[in-house]
Amino acid sequence: MGDTLRGLVLAGGTGSRLRPLTYTRSKQLLPVANRPMLFYAIEALVAAGITEVGVVVGDTAREIEAAVGSGAQFGCRITYIPQAAPLGLAHAVAVAAPFLGGHPFLMYLGDNLLKGGVSDLARRFREADWDAAILLTAVPHPEQFGVAVVDEAGGVVRLVEKPAVPPSNLALVGVYLFRPVIFDVVRHLKPSARGELEITDALQQLLDRGRPVHAERVQGWWKDTGKPEDLLEANRLVLEDLSPRRAASAQVDDASHVSGRVVLSDGVVVRRSTLRGPIILGPGTVVEDSFIGPFTSLGPGVRVSRTEMENSIVLADAVLDDVPGRIDGSLLGQGTRVTRRRMAPHAITLVTGDHCIVEVL
Ligand code: DAU
Repeated sequence: MGDTLRGLVLAGGTGSRLRPLTYTRSKQLLPVANRPMLFYAIEALVAAGITEVGVVVGDTAREIEAAVGSGAQFGCRITYIPQAAPLGLAHAVAVAAPFLGGHPFLMYLGDNLLKGGVSDLARRFREADWDAAILLTAVPHPEQFGVAVVDEAGGVVRLVEKPAVPPSNLALVGVYLFRPVIFDVVRHLKPSARGELEITDALQQLLDRGRPVHAERVQGWWKDTGKPEDLLEANRLVLEDLSPRRAASAQVDDASHVSGRVVLSDGVVVRRSTLRGPIILGPGTVVEDSFIGPFTSLGPGVRVSRTEMENSIVLADAVLDDVPGRIDGSLLGQGTRVTRRRMAPHAITLVTGDHCIVEVL
């Protein structure tokens, strides 16, 4: 028992909307600005003063454990909590109950990114007597989220998960703070129409019991990276704040032009090319006779030659050679090869799985 806030990061689930990339890797390890998105969640918890973090894992447990490790790289201690099947966010809370013990906790969905972090909300929660605190933000498609109805004073009146007819445009963001009363609620919860134990329903039950649920609006941007276009947008948002950096071992020849905020990692080679930031080039990336435009993240070992591209994410060891037109808004899996065939189309948009080979006309 105790008052120390613990962290709970959800990194299970199936990631079905990010297939084929999630056939071969955990959704939460997909990179945003060349870092697994899960890392941003753990860092946000550590920044909020949380040092004991539970990570709920499913089928991809081994991969997540290999990437995240003991937590030492983040300055916290990680405990892995296996969830046998992705039966819902409230199910994950129930499974994590032994780890969370009698502590209040901050639950952070591993596929959410929040610019403003969670430190302020965590501080206010520690000082207040709320049983739960949630973050809300107005969205264009509330039916894809948990939706909140608030009264004029900002108090939460009702919460409903992915309603066909949304009662408001206020979505629940994937950050929740709870006091231990939530364990009693989730123990008695029934599965929703989609067969999951919904944390939104658990919050509604707290309201039904007359318990204090506090809601705040998100400061700065928030992104749920469920779909490829969301991941690209998250990449753009993170790259917006990029600090330029050039590793001592990075080589850029005199025939190349580099402008804007650009990160050149160890062993990068750029020849006869134009780089226009914000972009990040991972270790060992080689760019020749190419244009790399804004909001592009190239993972480690990527090779780009005679190709124009922007606003894309390319995972490790992909090869792009002599691709006609300009690659835009694309998400390319590890080891993907894209090469020229004949006849040039002007726009190419690709979402491919690991080790795909794509020949373009
Ligand atoms: O992103 C915010 C939304 O997150 C909220 O507005 C919704 O109210 C909330 O239900 C949730 O909706 P999603 O449909 O986006 O949740 P998803 O199934 O994508 O799961 C969120 C994260 O939690 C994801 O990283 C996978 C993980 N997860 C999910 C389930 C269902 C688990 O670890 N275990 C699970 O059982």
